[in-house]
Amino acid sequence: MEYIKYEAEGMVGILTIDRPKALNALNSDVLAELDQAIDAVDLNAVRALIITGGGEKSFVAGADIGEMKELTKKGGEDFGKRGNDVFRKIETLPIPVIAAVNGFALGGGCELSMSCDIRLCSENAMFGQPETGLGITPGFGGTQRLARLVGAGIAKELIYGAKNIKADEAYRIGLVNHVYPSEELMAQAKKLANTIANNAPIAVRNAKKAINDGLDAAMDDAIVIEEKLFGDCFETHDQVEGMSAFLEKRKDKEFTNS
Ligand code: CAA
Repeated sequence: MEYIKYEAEGMVGILTIDRPKALNALNSDVLAELDQAIDAVDLNAVRALIITGGGEKSFVAGADIGEMKELTKKGGEDFGKRGNDVFRKIETLPIPVIAAVNGFALGGGCELSMSCDIRLCSENAMFGQPETGLGITPGFGGTQRLARLVGAGIAKELIYGAKNIKADEAYRIGLVNHVYPSEELMAQAKKLANTIANNAPIAVRNAKKAINDGLDAAMDDAIVIEEKLFGDCFETHDQVEGMSAFLEKRKDKEFTNS
């Protein structure tokens, strides 16, 4: 692939968007490769995925403005769908995805990070949805996910004002979980990914689905979603192993994803 690099380190996959000339901006080719790269992740071997940007300055500086400039209404809608489809695939991937935001996360970059389960960032990170300053709305899920993550009032201020924010402000409003010095970001992302990867994969997968599906449902339906996914963990090897290890006061446990 030209724009996506992928490697697996044990049970953790690391996917890098690498288009340095345009600060990793997402054009149709990058989106197509991202889609293929996500499909290619070996979900039997990899238990957590990290997404980051190539270079030290940018995670992703947005959708490609040069490509969008010439789009018709129909072309704009299609381009939005292309991004939305890939980001929804990331959001619903049956393993947790951590965004290691190593610089600019603007427009489509902020939106990509929000389709991940957890955001960690470097001190030089900058988040924002600058689209209204370009004459468009956010188009890869920003109007929906930012409001769900930080609340409608703050999302509206950021989106209507096309206001970019630094890492400390992103942390204050709950958009990122942790801020690290640049040189520590990947090590911290890998540490978190490994912690997750060492827990029971079926339980982690079901927890992700319960949280995501439950957030879109009324509470009476949401708790039923949880009950079913909770029940689904029982009679698995990993449930028996996890509980036996506790009762036998055993530290070592082997989760087999079965
Ligand atoms: N699309 C296309 N090219 C981009 C880009 C983008 N989103 N962001 C940066 N680039 C390109 C620049 O055009 C420049 O290319 P050239 O060297 O060929 O001129 C190169 O990357 C380096 O950028 P700068 O020289 O501008 O670097 P800087 O350090 O001075 O500024 C920046 C960095 C603040 C991120 C600035 O590049 C910037 O504001 N980029 C645009 C950010 C933006 O508006 N993103 C939202 C896009 S709209 C969107 O994403 C819609 C959606 O929801 C789907």
